[in-house]
Amino acid sequence: MSPKQTEDRRYLVPIDTASTQQLFTDCLVIGAGVAGLRAAIEAAANCDVTLVCKGSLSDSNTWQAQGGIASVLHSDDSFKLHIDDTLRTGCGLCDDTAVGLVVRSGPELILQLIEWGAEFDKVDGRLDITLEGGHSRARIAHAHGDATGRGIAEALIRKVAETPNINVIEHFYTIDLITDDDNECGGAIGYRSQTGFEIIWAANTIMATGGGGRLYRETTNPDEATADGLAMAYRAGAVLRDMEFVQFHPTTLYIAGASRALITETLRGEGAVLLDCDHKRFMQAYDEAAELAPRDIVSRSILDRMLKTNSTHVYLDIRHFDKEHFKTRFPLISELCESFDIDVSTDLIPVRPSAHYMIGGVKTDMEGRTNITGLYACGEAASTGLHGANRLGSNSLLEGLVFGRITGANASTEQNSRIRQPAYRRMKCEIPVSDRSRLDASDVCNSLRALMWRNVGITRKGQALTEAREIIEFWQRYVMDKVFDTPFGWECQNMLTVSYLMAQSAEQRCESRGVHYRVDFPEIDDAGFARHFELQRPTT
Ligand code: FUM
Repeated sequence: MSPKQTEDRRYLVPIDTASTQQLFTDCLVIGAGVAGLRAAIEAAANCDVTLVCKGSLSDSNTWQAQGGIASVLHSDDSFKLHIDDTLRTGCGLCDDTAVGLVVRSGPELILQLIEWGAEFDKVDGRLDITLEGGHSRARIAHAHGDATGRGIAEALIRKVAETPNINVIEHFYTIDLITDDDNECGGAIGYRSQTGFEIIWAANTIMATGGGGRLYRETTNPDEATADGLAMAYRAGAVLRDMEFVQFHPTTLYIAGASRALITETLRGEGAVLLDCDHKRFMQAYDEAAELAPRDIVSRSILDRMLKTNSTHVYLDIRHFDKEHFKTRFPLISELCESFDIDVSTDLIPVRPSAHYMIGGVKTDMEGRTNITGLYACGEAASTGLHGANRLGSNSLLEGLVFGRITGANASTEQNSRIRQPAYRRMKCEIPVSDRSRLDASDVCNSLRALMWRNVGITRKGQALTEAREIIEFWQRYVMDKVFDTPFGWECQNMLTVSYLMAQSAEQRCESRGVHYRVDFPEIDDAGFARHFELQRPTT
């Protein structure tokens, strides 16, 4: 059961169409990572599109992606192998249709990206592909070394810029999806610091809002990743699924006081090894694939090693790498290390795991549709069933491309009866102002991040999950009754809503599967839990 505070709030702000600026569009795309950009391009073939994003176009998780994009690109690989690797990693919860669809669409969509100007790295005229944990073949294509996400995003952003019927609005904070009593989505209300509140009425809305790494104290994600999309979808009545599954990336640069930065797994794919604080290699003792075991195993092993050695971190060792090759193959990490005076030919790189990717999200079908008419979801915000209980590295950029294209097409074609009928309606929704207790929202957010890291982190146990849920419920009592007028307050409310749902699902899954590891239930329990947990806000 969700607490009353979470259930009660349908909208975070009062809405009055009589006094609010309004825009109209055929297709509203919220989010500008790979999925949102690809969706906007596809939809624009059929209708006018408005693409909004919270920050600038470069403030996405996609932009920061390093390792690459997984696909079957060489003759020693096959769709079957990529499908098998994805299913094995997903630990029994993948949707076979989603996996087949994404894997088989990969090569064509990567070729299309290349036609649109993405410069993937090549060797001897062929795409230079590399290995990551859980993959039985090298199949990770990369661009500009470890600047893959940026390379892909820039190609898509150029394509968007060349498409006259895509209207891009940056720095638009989407607050809530607008729905009616017939469970139809009519667009969204948002806020721009220069112009204030705005409603964008849309015939169809595509949510590509990314994930929520910022719910955790330690994360690879940018500041924007506060799970806003999941919270607004929940408030609107969308079904959320698999909220207990959060992927932790094993290697984030750990320097006290510095912001955390991803150190790509492809480094390990190309020979980097992990050492503990006594400079001893340890991964072989945990898994026969050692540093290339799936991420959940590497993350848990690092955590265990840190505990056993009473240390705050472990090390990545690339002292044996050719220094010049490292600089060209991994320019971002090279620059990052230099900025902290780490000479990788003599020094070890301090790392530890951190929250990286939300596997759960808004449940969709294979057409990208949610349970709300006119609302689609894709990318990290969606739960298509591709990842199951654990995501195979570099499958997410691919998923964003594939389902971005699918949702863009479905939200815009003539078969979609809503197309070109942005649904204006007169609307006045008031929220009583609460005069209870003053609030320091930044203190709540920081405390929440620490709580999520401690109690809903890499390893979990029932008592700690119950405690997390109860503490969040208590915070919700005096945060969810407030009406904020800045994104920071809305973010805080969204973070509480989604964290609560994650703790609740994690508490209910009394087994260990994929990224969800319960020390009190360390085994997989197919008889009891080979199923998804779905959550939907009660409406009565
Ligand atoms: O390690 C990495 O470069 C991350 C890749 C991914 O999350 O897919």
